[in-house]
Amino acid sequence: MSILVTGGTGYIGSHTCVELINAGYDIIIIDNFYNSNIRVLDRIEKITNIRPKFYEVDILDKDSLDKVFKENDIQAVIHFAGYKAVGESVEKPLAYYHNNVTGSLTLYEVMKEYNCNTLVFSSSATVYGSPKSCPIYEDFPVSTTNPYGSTKLVNEIILEDLCKCDENMSILSLRYFNPIGAHESGLIGEVPNGIPNNLVPYIARVANKQSEYVRVFGNDYPTRDGTGIRDYIHVVDLAKGHIAALKYVLEHKGYDKINLGTGNGYTVLEVIKAYEEACGFELAYEIQGRRSGDIAECYASTKKAKELLDWEAKYDIKKMCQDSWNFTKMNPDGI
Ligand code: WQD
Repeated sequence: MSILVTGGTGYIGSHTCVELINAGYDIIIIDNFYNSNIRVLDRIEKITNIRPKFYEVDILDKDSLDKVFKENDIQAVIHFAGYKAVGESVEKPLAYYHNNVTGSLTLYEVMKEYNCNTLVFSSSATVYGSPKSCPIYEDFPVSTTNPYGSTKLVNEIILEDLCKCDENMSILSLRYFNPIGAHESGLIGEVPNGIPNNLVPYIARVANKQSEYVRVFGNDYPTRDGTGIRDYIHVVDLAKGHIAALKYVLEHKGYDKINLGTGNGYTVLEVIKAYEEACGFELAYEIQGRRSGDIAECYASTKKAKELLDWEAKYDIKKMCQDSWNFTKMNPDGI
C-alpha cells in the first residue's frame, strides 16, 4: 500500500515526502515540474537514503493518472499539485481554475475509479478572506478575494460534497497559514519562480544580495508597529502536520477542515529583525504603500489541530529564519 503525493517535488510537498519516508510510509510522487525540477528528487533521496517512485504527470492528464493508479496499490492521496501565486491568479484566472479545479476533479475521478477514498488536501488560510477577528477558527465565514483562494475554496466545497454523498470517503482539507523556512539539512527549501511575492523569500533575496532592500508594504495598519501581522509556520512543522492528518484520515471517515498554523503572529518588521539575527547582518528595507488585497492581521486558532490531530507547531520564528538563511546560503541559485 502506498501514499500518492501529487506535487511532491514542490516546496511543501518535498518536505512532506521527507517526513512521510521518515515515518515509514511507502510513497509515490507525481509532479509536472511547473514549480520544481527533478533535482528535488535527488535531494529527497540524499536526505532519506530512499528515492521515491516518481512519475512525471500533469493532473490534467487522465490517462497518465490512470496508469499511476493501475500500476500501484494507492491507499491514500496527499494533494499538493496546483498553481499557488495570488498575483498570478488575478492575471490568469482561467488558467488557475483549469489547473487547480479541473485538474483536481480529474484526480478525484481517477481516485473514485480505483476505489481510493482517502485524501488530504492542501488548502489555504486565504479562504478566510478578511477575517472578523483573530485567532481564526475553522468555523469562521469563508470569503475569497482572489482566484487562487477561490480555487482552494471550490475544492473544499467539492470534497465536502463527495463525503456527504459517499460515507466511505475520508477527507481533510488543511488550511495553511504562512509556510516559511527549510529542512535543516539545507538540501530542500523554497525556490520561488522569478521575483517572489511573499515576504520571507524576498527577504532571503535581499540577504543573498540579489535585491537591494525589502519593500515593506504599509506601516499604517492597526498593529503594534504598523506593519502586517501573519502566522508564519516552519515548513517542517507543516509537513509533520500532514503526517498527523494522514493518520487521522486513515482512521476516520467523513470530511473536515483544519488550520495548520502556530497561533502566533509576527509583524513584517519583526520578521526582518529575526532574519537579520539569522544572517548576522542588517537588511535594508523601505516603507512603501499598502499592497492591494492585504489584510492587517491573520493568525490561526490551533485548538482543532491539537484536539483532532494531536499536532502542534514546535519551531519559532528564529529557527524558521535560520533554516531559510541556511538553505539560501547553500543554494544561492536555487536547486
Ligand atoms: C506577508 C506579509 C505583506 C511581501 C500569501 C498568500 C496565501 C499563502 C501565503 C498560499 C504581509 C508583507 C509581503 C513583501 C511585504 N499562500 N509583505 N513585502 O499575503 O500573507 O499570504 O502567502 O496559500 O495564500 O496570500 O503572504 O508573504 O505575501 O505577505 O511587506 O515583499 O508581508 O503585506 O503583511 P500573505 P506574504
